[in-house]
Amino acid sequence: MSQARFASCLPLPLEQKVLVNIIEKAKDWALMHGVGMRDKKHFNKDTIQIAPFVLLPSPFPRAEFTKAIELQPVLNELMHKVAHDDGFLESTLQNALQVDEFTANLYNIWITVRNEGISQSLSLGLFRSDYLMQNADRNAIKQVEFNTIASSFGAITSNLPAMSRYILRQLGHGDLIKNMPENRALSGLCSGITEAFDLFGVPTAVVLFVVEEVSYNICDQRFHEFYISETRPEIQIIRKTMNEIYEETELNDKKQLIIDNKPVAVVYYRSGYEPAQYPSSKEWDARLRVERSTAIKCPSIAYQLAGTKKVQQALAVPGVLEKFMGGGNATERVRDIFTGLYSLDFDENGERAVEMALEDAERFVLKPQREGGGNNLYGSDVREALIRMRHSRERAAYILMERILPPLVPGYVVRPGAAVPPPITDLVSELGIFGVIIGTKEKIFYNKQVGHMLRTKLADANEGGVAAGLGALDSPYLID
Ligand SMILES: Nc1ncnc2c1ncn2[C@@H]1O[C@H](COP(=O)(O)OP(=O)(O)O)[C@@H](O)[C@H]1O
Ligand SMILES: [Mg+2]
Repeated sequence: MSQARFASCLPLPLEQKVLVNIIEKAKDWALMHGVGMRDKKHFNKDTIQIAPFVLLPSPFPRAEFTKAIELQPVLNELMHKVAHDDGFLESTLQNALQVDEFTANLYNIWITVRNEGISQSLSLGLFRSDYLMQNADRNAIKQVEFNTIASSFGAITSNLPAMSRYILRQLGHGDLIKNMPENRALSGLCSGITEAFDLFGVPTAVVLFVVEEVSYNICDQRFHEFYISETRPEIQIIRKTMNEIYEETELNDKKQLIIDNKPVAVVYYRSGYEPAQYPSSKEWDARLRVERSTAIKCPSIAYQLAGTKKVQQALAVPGVLEKFMGGGNATERVRDIFTGLYSLDFDENGERAVEMALEDAERFVLKPQREGGGNNLYGSDVREALIRMRHSRERAAYILMERILPPLVPGYVVRPGAAVPPPITDLVSELGIFGVIIGTKEKIFYNKQVGHMLRTKLADANEGGVAAGLGALDSPYLID
């Protein structure tokens, strides 16, 4: 790999004594402002430890950052239209769902509620579009994926610029703060929830957060709850697992979802995006019940299906963006953020993609229809998997994506329990832009870009999930 390098916002290395001192300050700042997570190894509900973070904000080209911000409402609308195009979703997902049980289960719920008649035409999307810079293409941003369910880290990363400002000031470089964009993701995402609550129009209703059995990323969820409680004190938020929803909710004769004798206005999923979160048929029954109800779902099942990797690949097929967006400048701008995406369907195009990947597997990433990190294959694993699946329909559950090689940034990653000071390491950053949309098939009521997150990982790690323990939270330091 010969990737170019950006300079850190301050000359590195920092002097040892300065480094040790600033890390101690930064860790305390993080702990006291909820830049934290629960410890997976020694789980204890009474303690929060620091979330891994990058000590100094990582450089990111201003023009590319601005482009990502500007594109978010366009992408929100695109995904909204995709989710409401039944024929497109049906034909796009057809092959994958024959071989992927999880996608098939979601799809079946979608078909069931459509056949019964949709009882809530409004959907709420709290989306996040993720990007890596393609070093070989003038560091232009390329979309990694579009998240339509449980898009995380909007809350914690809203605190990060303040942490970086504190760190830079303590290091005597407050002058650099002007290059750090504000981040109001938390308030923006919460506005989505409260706008949807108001559109539901029942003041006594509640908001339901669907959560995992154990929430390690608790700060990122509670901050939404705290913010809404502060700004809209009359709105009650209830947290329940899928299993609890199965046990404790019912549909009344008006198809309202009832919990604790109150109708649910908005259901916000922070779980439900991977198979392990549906260990039995009860969780699937719960999902179907919610989907049948009048509650506004974030996301609706159609939004979740629109967020599959298969749909991302189908949108890159020539002519498809035009179908949804027309042929203007915005379409070109969206196409420009796509990198090579190829179907592995059991047909001629799929066969060609398999051959291309076998020739040079290092150039590609193989992705199944999964969310949450750790599911993709890289390098020699791509080759192995394709050889194994070549003559099997199973391969239609995957897409092939060109591998993006971002520029390297040197930096210090601060991790809970790790030796201080950490070494300087080569890092790469992934930018996520948050978007909120509310609408029906016919009309969009609300469509905004609301903030960002930067997640940075070791350059030689394939994936950088923060919750998965690989990446670190970061803030962009804009460079010209
Ligand atoms: N085309 C790609 N090139 C380089 N890295 C990638 C690519 N696609 C994904 N990755 C890495 O893998 C991670 C997970 O992939 P992603 O598509 O976001 O799936 P998930 O839904 O599991 O988050 C990304 O955050 C990124 O670090
Ligand atoms: Mg991802």
